Amino acid sequence: MNILSPLLEVLTYDIGIDLGTANTIVYLRGTGIVVFEPSVVAIDKKSNTVLAVGTEARQMIGRTPANVVAIRPLRDGVITDFDTTQAMLHHFIGKAHQYFSNTFKIPRPRVIVGVPSSVTEVERQAVIDAAKTAGAREVFVVEEAMAAAIGADLPVEQASGSMIVDVGGGTTDIAVISLGDIVVDRTIKIAGDEFDQDIISYVRDKYNLLIGERTAEDVKLAIGSAAPLEEEKTVLVQGRDLLSGLPKSIEISSLEVREALMGSIDQITDAVKDAIEDTPPELLTDLLTSGVHLAGGGALLPGLDKYWQKRLNVPVKIVREPLAAVARGTAAMLDHITLLERIQKSWDELV
Ligand SMILES: Nc1ncnc2c1ncn2[C@@H]1O[C@H](COP(=O)(O)OP(=O)(O)OP(=O)(O)O)[C@@H](O)[C@H]1O
Ligand SMILES: [Mg+2]
Repeated sequence: MNILSPLLEVLTYDIGIDLGTANTIVYLRGTGIVVFEPSVVAIDKKSNTVLAVGTEARQMIGRTPANVVAIRPLRDGVITDFDTTQAMLHHFIGKAHQYFSNTFKIPRPRVIVGVPSSVTEVERQAVIDAAKTAGAREVFVVEEAMAAAIGADLPVEQASGSMIVDVGGGTTDIAVISLGDIVVDRTIKIAGDEFDQDIISYVRDKYNLLIGERTAEDVKLAIGSAAPLEEEKTVLVQGRDLLSGLPKSIEISSLEVREALMGSIDQITDAVKDAIEDTPPELLTDLLTSGVHLAGGGALLPGLDKYWQKRLNVPVKIVREPLAAVARGTAAMLDHITLLERIQKSWDELV
């Protein structure tokens, strides 16, 4: 151990980041969640400057003047716009640092970022570069599925198999973990964003009504479900009539929304089924008892656990605070920096 380590420990701070397609969560070691905001950046196209980041920028989606664009720099779980991602990380890391504005902490944290297991080497490097440019002193990239499993307090180090399914915004990450390793993994680009698109298509095809992504998400959050509800609900939806071009509102029921979502839900169900089929028999017995652990915002879709329990014939449990599982896991990993350095090194040697 470096003799300066204890001193560095006092002077610096570490953060874990879940850089999600829909939300970015920053977890400050020893403090907890300090940022939980949508992954959105508003940019003035004329001057090419960042106008707002996070919650404030999300409010601008779909209602910005022509020269202002609200960008989601990550799509399908990968960075599609490097400069904007960098600006966003910069803003959020800066926000985390504000917690120490009255202390003498060095403003260059060590950072762990969770990324989908399917990222390519180029994308992994892009995340590292973005975090470094945003002020990080040292950056570690870890697989989201592993972080989610650790954040969900699953016994990842043990020889028993644990299954985690993280239904996020852009991707659903499925993994079976045993002895600290991912034994089976699947990532599909069907998750919350796709559910929103399903609602847009359904309303367009059935009612000739055009609605935006935000409205579709609001409908999903209000009355979306994957299994029959005790009391089915309805909600008013406003949009533009495709025939007259004028504003129109219709009433839509939770039954219709479920019908709209079922195709995507079943594609995810099939991917989970595939992963279960690929699980080695000795770990399968563990899965049958410990079950499938459901994380990510999609875990909050009412009835998804019940639906899978029936379709897959395994117990399904929603993890504690499913939206924060990855961030919590990355923060827990900060306590094992030496191990991380080893993992990172062996990864670097692989590529
Ligand atoms: N109560 C809810 N019911 C249904 N869906 C929900 C609910 N709450 C949040 N969501 C959805 O969860 C998604 C965001 O989840 P999450 O924050 O886990 O994604 P992410 O980590 O940003 O994305 P990814 O992991 O794909 O990069 C959004 O599509 C959101 O609409
Ligand atoms: Mg996620």
